[in-house]
Amino acid sequence: MDLFGKKKNVIGVDIGSSSIKVVELKDTKKGYELVNYGIAPIPSEVIVDGAIMDSFAIVEAIKNLLAEKKIKTKDAAISVSGHSVIIKKITLPAMTEEELEESIQWEAEQYIPFPIGDVNMDFHILEMATGQPQMDVLIVAVKKDMINDYTAVMSEAGLNTVVVDVDSFALENMYCINYDVTPEETVALVNIGANGININILKGGTSTLTRDVSAGGRQITNEIQKQVGVSFEDAEILKCGGEVSGVDPKNVEEIVKTASIALVTEVQRSFDFYLSATQEGRIDKVYLSGGSSKIKGIAGAISERTGIPTEVGNPFMKIGINQKRLDAENLKENAVFLCVGVGLAIRRPGDKK
Ligand SMILES: Nc1ncnc2c1ncn2[C@@H]1O[C@H](COP(=O)(O)OP(=O)(O)OP(=O)(O)O)[C@@H](O)[C@H]1O
Ligand SMILES: [Mg+2]
Repeated sequence: MDLFGKKKNVIGVDIGSSSIKVVELKDTKKGYELVNYGIAPIPSEVIVDGAIMDSFAIVEAIKNLLAEKKIKTKDAAISVSGHSVIIKKITLPAMTEEELEESIQWEAEQYIPFPIGDVNMDFHILEMATGQPQMDVLIVAVKKDMINDYTAVMSEAGLNTVVVDVDSFALENMYCINYDVTPEETVALVNIGANGININILKGGTSTLTRDVSAGGRQITNEIQKQVGVSFEDAEILKCGGEVSGVDPKNVEEIVKTASIALVTEVQRSFDFYLSATQEGRIDKVYLSGGSSKIKGIAGAISERTGIPTEVGNPFMKIGINQKRLDAENLKENAVFLCVGVGLAIRRPGDKK
């Protein structure tokens, strides 16, 4: 029971394959305020293709992060992505939400490449114009195993998972609270992480295509490691503009430039797919996020290749910052990592976002 009517906070916990990001927002009269955040690196190979390989490492990382940042909130929203997540827009005969609730398993079965008993499913009716014989429904199915693994590490870390979301939908929430959405505009949200790229194309603020691609900044690190002959850790330092003795930064710059072409190509491919599959025929703007949006020149390269203006998104455009607790400069450096986490932190149990 909540006697004083205070809204209970939910922390957004973005479990990425290279780091865990926690975001806590307060819902105030003046809008959202960032009260706390934290980022904790996790060793490579702990998460592979979205699957948790070493749950102990994640539990420890979350626990230490919460202790270090003095985060007391226990209810959390998490997200999943990758091959175990199926998102499809389907057209069905018009029916009420209650009727759909009854029949969704049966209706959706043919669209899901896993046994229906192995997935958790959710749906959202997109359009139900009165009198129309059909309606569009978005179905989301996630392998139960995956959800169980994620919620198990959360509870081991002392957290209570109240919402399970999808990375690309969390990005959409982040965008919609920070940017002015206009009905005519089509924007592509592109989150480039270590191992995955999450793409969500929104028309007038509504998702029309989501796609997860297995590609990311790690492949650039691997390339530096191979070509320069250094450890993975040193290759990461070099990629992020740091120095390692005996290595020429010019050489590294060239490797990064060449290796990032593969990421640009993946983004372009998804856009081409969208443009050929819809009558829409245009994307007006690209907003980048994720750690790999920090790769030098990547926004320019995407813009040059696709012809679409591209910029790095700001997840705190319309979110107040608790100045007493948080360092603005630090936050600016880390903002791109927190986009999914911000989208998760605004979720509340039982909402439909
Ligand atoms: N300054 C930088 N320049 C280039 N790359 C960077 C920089 N800082 C971080 N990165 C890269 O960003 C990636 C991590 O980004 P992010 O935290 O968004 O990924 P993740 O959520 O852990 O991974 P995923 O979502 O793919 O599982 C790493 O590959 C890291 O090397
Ligand atoms: Mg990520």
